[in-house]
Amino acid sequence: MSYAAAIVAMAGLFGLAGHAAAARAADIPHVRVLATGGTIAGAQPSATDYGYRSGAYDVNSLLKAVPNLDQLADITGEQVANIGSQDMNDALWLELARRVDAALADPGIDGVLITHGTDTLEETSYFLSLVTKSDEPVVMVGSMRPATAVSADGPGNLYNGVAVAADARARGKGTLVVLNDVIHYARNVVKTDTTSVATFASVNRGPAGLVHTGKIRWFEPMDRKVGPASEFSVGRLSTLPRVDILYAHANMSADLIDAAVKNGAKGLVIAGVGDGNMTTPALDALTRAAKSGIVVVRSTRLPSGIVLRNNEVNDDEKGFVVSGELNPAKSRVLLQLALTKTTDPVRIQKMFYEY
Ligand code: DGL
Repeated sequence: MSYAAAIVAMAGLFGLAGHAAAARAADIPHVRVLATGGTIAGAQPSATDYGYRSGAYDVNSLLKAVPNLDQLADITGEQVANIGSQDMNDALWLELARRVDAALADPGIDGVLITHGTDTLEETSYFLSLVTKSDEPVVMVGSMRPATAVSADGPGNLYNGVAVAADARARGKGTLVVLNDVIHYARNVVKTDTTSVATFASVNRGPAGLVHTGKIRWFEPMDRKVGPASEFSVGRLSTLPRVDILYAHANMSADLIDAAVKNGAKGLVIAGVGDGNMTTPALDALTRAAKSGIVVVRSTRLPSGIVLRNNEVNDDEKGFVVSGELNPAKSRVLLQLALTKTTDPVRIQKMFYEY
């Protein structure tokens, strides 16, 4: 579905039928569910064949399919979009962040749960963890199998996601991602497998915790700035600066780097080989770009590890930024937000160490 069509599909605020009045009276947490689409809302013509459509079900139908959800929290649902997350974009990120802030500014809401496709979940969650202006829990869930599949994983992820969003101990941890019984910090979570229900991993670090049938065990604390501690916000932003990612490989030419510069990129992230390396022609092109005021971040195409500053590349001399632990997709998110504040690579490097 196109973004325009998805916006038409926005349903606005509505309460869930039936249980709302009774549940509100009870002393249980209040969770707002913001739905954006993805496989978790997907349907397929046959339960055992390939082929399905993301975002076929609305938030109401999704929640009704999960038994005993109303015992965990009083839930209200809001349809923000209904798309495959490969179509997620800057405008929808800004809209979603505003809806999260608005929900959490309501004293009657204790936490937010967002349903989202898994393809770009790692980017949206990191974006929200940097711009959301509340300490209250923000949790994202998706699923790897559509709602109509044999052993659909969506209902279990929703149940666990609501449990985490309703848990006061989730406050102050930034946006969390819950799938397959694992709780991840947005900063660390990466999709690692095209189809496995165990696709999400906290790369370089341990998970935030585990959640099984709604019962939670918290593990690692978050040591980076998130939520209100972050200097970023969506404020009055109507767009985000253009940042392109370039994938390094043997024999890489300067052509795509030059094209990105020509097309107006304000920042470039290189998914480098090894420790953020690239061919000499690519390095020369990025050096030219950095000298012209474009901010260049060296990340890696490898699934884990830390990109080191001034190791094989003299970043100080070239005016580059290194991504540290952040993969190219997350580096792009942080660089977009960083560029709303400054184009100074020294300041931006500090942000990569802090967020
Ligand atoms: N295209 C995908 C998306 O919405 C479907 C995959 C999923 O949600 O798991 O991200």
